[in-house]
Amino acid sequence: MTSSIVSSAADLPAGTSFPWIADGFAYGGDYGPEQWPEEVWQEDVALMARAGVNSVNLGVFSWGLIEIADGVYDFGWLDRIMALLHAHGVGVNLATPTAAPPIWLLQAHPEVAPVTEAGVRFSQGGRLGWYPCSATFRRYALRIVEKVSQRYGKHPALRMWHVSNELGNENHHSYDDETGAAWQLWLREKYGAVETLNDVWGSAFWGHHYTSFEQIQPPRYTGTGHNPALLLDFERFTSDALLGHYVAERDVLRRITPNIPITTNFMVQNSPGVVDYAAWAHEVDLVANDHYTLGSDPERYGELAFSADRVRGMSGGAPWLLMEHSTSAVNWQPRNLAKSPGELTRNSLAHIGRGADGALFFQWRQSSSGSEQFHSAAVPHAGAETKVFGEVEALGGVLKRIAEVAGSRVAKASVAMLFDSDSASALRCGPKPTVDVNSLDVALTFHRELTSRGVAVDIVHPGSRLDGYAAVIVPTLFLLSEHNAAAIAAFATNGGHVVITAFSGIVTSHNRVRLGGYPGAFRDLLGVRFEEIFPLLEHERVTLDNGWAGSVWSELGEATTAQVVASYTEGDLAGRPAVTRRTLPASGRGTAGTATYVSTMLSRASAGALMDDLLARAGVGPVAAGDRGLERLRRTDGSRSWLFAINHAATPLSVTVTGLDLISDTRVEGLAVIPAGSVAVIREDNP
Ligand code: GLA
Repeated sequence: MTSSIVSSAADLPAGTSFPWIADGFAYGGDYGPEQWPEEVWQEDVALMARAGVNSVNLGVFSWGLIEIADGVYDFGWLDRIMALLHAHGVGVNLATPTAAPPIWLLQAHPEVAPVTEAGVRFSQGGRLGWYPCSATFRRYALRIVEKVSQRYGKHPALRMWHVSNELGNENHHSYDDETGAAWQLWLREKYGAVETLNDVWGSAFWGHHYTSFEQIQPPRYTGTGHNPALLLDFERFTSDALLGHYVAERDVLRRITPNIPITTNFMVQNSPGVVDYAAWAHEVDLVANDHYTLGSDPERYGELAFSADRVRGMSGGAPWLLMEHSTSAVNWQPRNLAKSPGELTRNSLAHIGRGADGALFFQWRQSSSGSEQFHSAAVPHAGAETKVFGEVEALGGVLKRIAEVAGSRVAKASVAMLFDSDSASALRCGPKPTVDVNSLDVALTFHRELTSRGVAVDIVHPGSRLDGYAAVIVPTLFLLSEHNAAAIAAFATNGGHVVITAFSGIVTSHNRVRLGGYPGAFRDLLGVRFEEIFPLLEHERVTLDNGWAGSVWSELGEATTAQVVASYTEGDLAGRPAVTRRTLPASGRGTAGTATYVSTMLSRASAGALMDDLLARAGVGPVAAGDRGLERLRRTDGSRSWLFAINHAATPLSVTVTGLDLISDTRVEGLAVIPAGSVAVIREDNP
């Protein structure tokens, strides 16, 4: 997408690239005018103008209010609010309203609702109460999509289609018969012959041999465990089925409005991980993501940074949209912490510094009723004269001052981290040596250490091209194809530096363990052979003879061609290798790559020490020199560059930079001191 805007996207000739959805950064959020009397709408548009809002998501849960009975439509209120928003210069990302089926549909066709593992059908009264394999639901859904797109496809307020809402979040699995039949078909297409499936799944275990695809059921409640290969395929099937629903809606929209961009909001971090968004990213016109911080995490900005870097990896580096985040507290955590003063701005700019070209909130006006009545919004229950609205308004001003950054890209990082939802799903499918092993925790630990050092990281799918990076981190990437394992080895052979942590490359794409010692896919590259996993108890720690510490995991093994960097100091593994490094023969580039293996889950301090070593070895520095803890991000358009400096600490932190701080409109000569909790966006003199 480009960053220009046209008055009506529907006027574009077919085939041209889509305009960005707003003039500069998109700013606004989910808007629910249907919850309010129309007098309130006037106040809404006035407040939107005060805050600089230019983009709202409309109609997300409004199916029951526009199709009031089967085939009976009332578009009056939607017509009026579309016109009002347009009159006030607010662009609309209009939702296909299919996330929440109307009560009349659920009453007429209760069979569209998902069924749990134990055979219980969902009841009415929630949202996303449908499953993607329901032919009945599909028929009704596509009919309302067609109606909405025909009615509003040429509306001048329309900027983008927002398909459904967080597909796979609340309707992630269904175990009903219709889904079962679709699952059998999916398996037949994947494996061709049932004997191939038996072989790949290893169904001889417990004698689960199938003689036809019709015998295979979704993994319903058994009281005992299912085959992990079956569980993983069911996750993949579910992701494909949900994607199939998105594509079906998208194709209706595409047919009727070929010039309007189409997306759906991902939840790369907060979703149960059923959906393989990296695969979905190819099907949307711009990647949009929802992100909510977890109040219980004192370093929640670090998790946000990780999420935003993942989303940028999915968008292939192109600007993406933060479709939802919160102005303050959410309402679905056990304890919903309010955001600290300034946190809303820091969060928004951290997403933008990592490639978002907009920051939208759920939601515009805080509900007085309904199940999200205590979720924060831009306009709180207490009204506009509040901390929250004041910050919303201030952020609107900031986004105008930094508008020139929109359309630029995040400068390519020298460090890549590989992350794959399919592998994370495999790790969750079936019992593992410990419940504490989690690839996200491992990845986050390294990412936090790199971020606090001001080092940029691209988080990419293991199938991505690795040339151009100096270092690659493989954090507990349990499942890996032969092809992608070979690409990682080739990267090191060509002079790259790789860090691989325990329980990586263990299973093939079919979820079968590679034999001959751990970590199967990387034994030769790493020059190690580990033979037995020694998981640790919940609070147990291991110490290494170089002073490092680990938890969760340890392993018994040997270095074959690698050097031992650190050994375990205690217990059954005392004196055995814990961290190893193999230096590869010098490459054609004249430099020797290294492959480091870490057989325990390192503490933060030890992970930091390992990252210091990796950065020195790979010759990688921070985005800009500065104090530890200061978030530093760079966006560039090729001729100009902007340094984002975000201080999450309670003390001032500095960064070396010369240029103009667009937020305070002041020159910075050599050193910028960022006050506690503040942000700066500096157009650099020397891009
Ligand atoms: C999700 C949904 C929104 C809202 C928020 C609350 O992101 O898309 O409709 O429920 O959660 O945090």
